[in-house]
Amino acid sequence: MKALLLAGGKGTRLYPLTHSIPKPMVPILNKPLLERTINYIKGYGIDEIVMSLCYQPEQIMNYFKDGSEFGVKIYYFIEESPLGTGGAIKNAEKYLDDTFLIFNSDIITDINLQKLINYHKEKNAKVTIALTRVDNPSAYGLVETDNDDRITAFKEKPRPEEITTDLINAGIYVFEKEILDLIPAGREISVEKEVYPGLLSAGIRMYAYKNSNYWIDIGTPHKYLELHNSIMDGLFAYPFIERNYKNNIFIGKNSYISPTTKLIPPIVIGDNCYIADEVIIGPRTVIGNNIEIRSGSYIRNSIIWEGCKIGRGSKLSNTIIGINCTIEDNRDVSYGVIAD
Ligand code: GDD
Ligand code: MG
Repeated sequence: MKALLLAGGKGTRLYPLTHSIPKPMVPILNKPLLERTINYIKGYGIDEIVMSLCYQPEQIMNYFKDGSEFGVKIYYFIEESPLGTGGAIKNAEKYLDDTFLIFNSDIITDINLQKLINYHKEKNAKVTIALTRVDNPSAYGLVETDNDDRITAFKEKPRPEEITTDLINAGIYVFEKEILDLIPAGREISVEKEVYPGLLSAGIRMYAYKNSNYWIDIGTPHKYLELHNSIMDGLFAYPFIERNYKNNIFIGKNSYISPTTKLIPPIVIGDNCYIADEVIIGPRTVIGNNIEIRSGSYIRNSIIWEGCKIGRGSKLSNTIIGINCTIEDNRDVSYGVIAD
């Protein structure tokens, strides 16, 4: 079985962080989000991945190449101008066969993909959509079902008066290839707004897979910090960092930390960092690779991306700092997003 990753969106709600980096490459514990997604998919024995790209595709391709380093085979499709989610699926047609999976690339979940696929087969569905519950569906795609969980309606980004359920499209689909014959080629088309409602009208069997697994999208800075908090508090298991690292403090290779600096766990510090005297870091802080933190700074509940320099006496809390930023001495930032 193959999986198609929709990874061409611009990530505008994460601006300015996503000026210099496409959203699927946003770091989670110092590794691109997409790397964890590939790892997760591979865990179900799916090792052929089709990536549909548009915005800044080179960064993604340069990192993952043909996939061999990550134990998978990757095929790329690049759109010159955005084709929308439906257009991106149609565009990848020649690499897809039989039954396949589709993923949005800005989500993190531990939904059981084997159960999802089994469910799709049991229901004899042509399309199955994983659903998740959220407090407020207005920023998502609301999905209504009947008592047998057959889908009856879609309301993408519903207005307050349209909200009839807290179940939304989780951005994970199982498709039968024949569905692609029903998507028009060569034009921009949204799977959520146009293709799905069209399939419903045509009487196609579409089912909802409801589950209560962990699910989050990192579409906004707030959600991005929330995901890190869940991982660092041990509420969601995450690969790449051994869970039992010493006292919940993980320090990468070649990083110097002054003995007069205080580390309050949980903390992750990347490779090649220099942390000067009398700095306080933590709790819940991720310091990327190649970072210099000068003396007397205090950083907590924050995520600092690679290559940053944090000036003397700075105070950062609940803040995200994008790649290669310099924070001047004595800056005091809370609930901020800073990027060039
Ligand atoms: N290749 C390609 N081309 N990919 C695209 C394009 C495009 O033109 N437009 C969007 N994508 C990718 C994005 O990179 C993302 O991974 C995915 O398609 C969904 O796009 P978003 O921009 O993140 O959509 P959304 O968050 O507003 O809503 C979607 O996700 C929600 C769950 O997070 C919808 O699927 C909602 O129904 C759903 O609830
Ligand atoms: Mg999204």
